[in-house]
Amino acid sequence: MYGTLFLLFWLAFVPVDAVKPYLFKKCSESGFCSRNRHFAEEIAKQGDEYQSRYSVDLESLKIDHDGGHLHATLLKMLNDGTFVPLDLHLTTLQDANLRVQVDEVHRSPPVTHVNPKRYNEAWKYALQSEPKAREFTHSVDSEKITLNYNDYVTEIQLHPFKITLLRNNQAQLVLNERNFFNLEHYRTREEQSRENSIHIAPEESTFDSYTDSFKDSRDDKLPFGPESVALDVSFLGAKAVYGIPEHADSLSLKDTSETEPYRLYNVDIFEYETQSKYPMYGSIPFMIGVGGESSAGVFWITGSDTNVDIKKSDSQVQTHWISESGILDIILITEDTPGQVLQSYGKLSGNSVLPNLFSLGYHQSRWNYNDEEDVLGVTAKFDESLIPFDAIWLDIEYTDDKKYFTWQKEAFPDPDRMMRKLDQTGRTLIVIIDPHLKVGYEISDTVIQKKIGILKSDGSDVYHGHSWPGESVWIDSMHPDAQLFWDEQFVNGSNLLGHSTNGHLWNDMNEPSVFNGPETSAPRDLIHYGDWEHRSVHNLWGLTYHEMTYESLIKRNPNLRPFILTRSFYAGSQRTSAMWTGDNSAKWEYLRESIPMVLTMNTVGFPFAGADLAGFFGNPDKDLQVRWYQTGLWYPFFRAHAHIDSRRHEPYVAGEPYTSYMRDAIKLRYKLLPLYYTLFQKNSVSGTPVVSPMAFEYPSDSEVLEMDNQFFVGPLLVKPVTSPDTDKVSIYIPDDKPYYDLQNYTVLQGKGYHDVDAPLDKIPVFIRGGSILITKERYRRSSKLMKNDPYTLYVAPSESAATGELYFDDGETFAYQDGEFVLTTFEFTGNKIVSTVKNSYDTSIIIEKIVVLSDKEVTKATVEQDGESWTAEIVPQDHSFVIRNPKPLVAKSWTITLH
Ligand code: NOJ
Repeated sequence: MYGTLFLLFWLAFVPVDAVKPYLFKKCSESGFCSRNRHFAEEIAKQGDEYQSRYSVDLESLKIDHDGGHLHATLLKMLNDGTFVPLDLHLTTLQDANLRVQVDEVHRSPPVTHVNPKRYNEAWKYALQSEPKAREFTHSVDSEKITLNYNDYVTEIQLHPFKITLLRNNQAQLVLNERNFFNLEHYRTREEQSRENSIHIAPEESTFDSYTDSFKDSRDDKLPFGPESVALDVSFLGAKAVYGIPEHADSLSLKDTSETEPYRLYNVDIFEYETQSKYPMYGSIPFMIGVGGESSAGVFWITGSDTNVDIKKSDSQVQTHWISESGILDIILITEDTPGQVLQSYGKLSGNSVLPNLFSLGYHQSRWNYNDEEDVLGVTAKFDESLIPFDAIWLDIEYTDDKKYFTWQKEAFPDPDRMMRKLDQTGRTLIVIIDPHLKVGYEISDTVIQKKIGILKSDGSDVYHGHSWPGESVWIDSMHPDAQLFWDEQFVNGSNLLGHSTNGHLWNDMNEPSVFNGPETSAPRDLIHYGDWEHRSVHNLWGLTYHEMTYESLIKRNPNLRPFILTRSFYAGSQRTSAMWTGDNSAKWEYLRESIPMVLTMNTVGFPFAGADLAGFFGNPDKDLQVRWYQTGLWYPFFRAHAHIDSRRHEPYVAGEPYTSYMRDAIKLRYKLLPLYYTLFQKNSVSGTPVVSPMAFEYPSDSEVLEMDNQFFVGPLLVKPVTSPDTDKVSIYIPDDKPYYDLQNYTVLQGKGYHDVDAPLDKIPVFIRGGSILITKERYRRSSKLMKNDPYTLYVAPSESAATGELYFDDGETFAYQDGEFVLTTFEFTGNKIVSTVKNSYDTSIIIEKIVVLSDKEVTKATVEQDGESWTAEIVPQDHSFVIRNPKPLVAKSWTITLH
């Protein structure tokens, strides 16, 4: 055991060539996954001959129309013809379509220290509140129960059990169409292994029901034996499905008939491979199907290890969801477009937090900046090179011997002083705090003594394992007393961030990563608050950890929006944090992979996502580094980070012309901060993506459904260069509008593919005709220093018309919740530009320049605001003209007339 232990420990430190596949279970090595795939294969073999074991007992029907609830007993037939009763609960929802829950009615295992129920609390983390039900009417006949509500109809077929969701009379989703529904009911090992046991149907397998034969998990006690839940869901008419991060794969999910399923199990995966279905650091069990005129969403709310199989055909996409434990809790959404599905999802799970504005700027990190001098030196170098940045990061080495909440005294003698100095140029410090706590100092001592850590499988004591500090314990962030303890650390206690208001947090390793644990994580039979097994909460635990940090930071400073970066995540993480895609490599294929990964996060309501620039492991060559900055500037979360063994490669290190190219990329991001902030605000109220896949913008164009190397950021169409030695890219123009090159205003027009020049200094980006882009153009050292800078507008007409929108507020407090923000729209109609302010607060920011991308001859502009009018000069340019210094206040409506 110790041999394996230290081998794993050693592997954890040493960068290796590729993921170690033997560390992670394949479906065939995972009891519940293998059993359910077997079950599905056996049923598929029998085809129409198969007699399903599940039926709805009509006698048991209880209906509450007005409350929107239906309860019935779902009978599972055993081999002797007797039944196991299951509780079927349907809720017709206001903000979606339908919620379906199934639980065991009788479950009384003789296990004392573990909660005997199937885990039924995942929704408390995944959803922002209990979803509201809506009333329905119903009818019943001998074959089915039919529910009618608004445009929706749900049909519940009694035998075999099947649910069909129709919208506008069209069936969009079917549950259990293939009879793969399987809820492994509780039975003892003896009951199961008895000869001719009534509990095991011929189509079932018993593989690894009570033991785990995977070499690193043999100690798993599996106290309840087999307890999986699985279901097939068909997306009728869908041509592509998206979502279920986190995987380093294409945006459009692939057919898994001949491969591993997509696995959702939060793990610390070293040097992950690209184009793979391996599990990664986080999971969001939400999938959107797109095709033709409709779109549907499936939200599988389970905290346990989950596998998803996908089978595609011309007429539909069939999925098979398999989870190790927990109840069945699934929410179904049916709409016209993927954007509408995402909006419904946002109403359920919550939208993204409106970020502190600084966090949308550029972040500079590495493992590690060594001391105060290093931190301030890097900052000065950025200033000398005229490169803006907003935050500098400290990785684990800033602590005293990896004891979180301490500082390595010699290197950081006065953190308060360091933070004050950073503050002078508007910079922020972000420090890491991981959930593993080194044994032998007061923080871990208290966790052990108060029993607020994750507990051993017998519940007797706090579990010990290995991570960066060596032997460690893990705070159990599901425990209410853990929150109080964490609050003390941030508010009083060690007071890590001193007196600063420019200190924020990084929560890493919260899968949790356990170097000597099975699959690099916690043993599944560990115990959490509520006596729940780790098995059932594994995928959502990382969320509880960063949410705990968020709560503490709010208590520390109730009026400052906290920024927290988390590596592990679950549905709901978007409410309080940002994520990044973990330990990638400085290779072109990882640059390419970062785009579908970030886009996928945008399809599941968690847009605040990014990837390490320019690769965590290894040293990028200069071309790759430049191309990565030109790509990374579009990630909603824009951070450079590097492994401890990599060379320094801050953008100023490369030298000319590379440094200038990276500076240009970073400066473009700063110029676009008003756009990013406005998109985030939109996301925070309506769930729309920040970086939007082509398929979300043009869902009925089958050409774009698989496209994951170009995307929209608001009105900007972007096609990053992600291959070496390239000076041309082919970009797909999805409609007949003019697309204006952001650099030289030349126009691409005509639906279809166009070749555009893309030498190393060029970022292929186009403004969609019909839009107005709002920017800030003055160089400052950080976003905080840009606060009162004037705006510039780019009017890009299509048929002489264009519109745009701008949102801003103080960028850091919660005053916006009391109405302190500016929201204004702009409209161009050929000879007028009109700004209509929807909401306003007192600010003197003006518009200093308007660039109109038009060849039209204009000589004069008249500005009108507040009953006054004045003229502004017109300067003609190539393919455009500039209205110079029109100077209207942005917080009040105005009109500019062109003559
Ligand atoms: C793993 C993280 O993924 C990486 O970004 C970080 O540098 C190391 N942990 C050290 O904290």
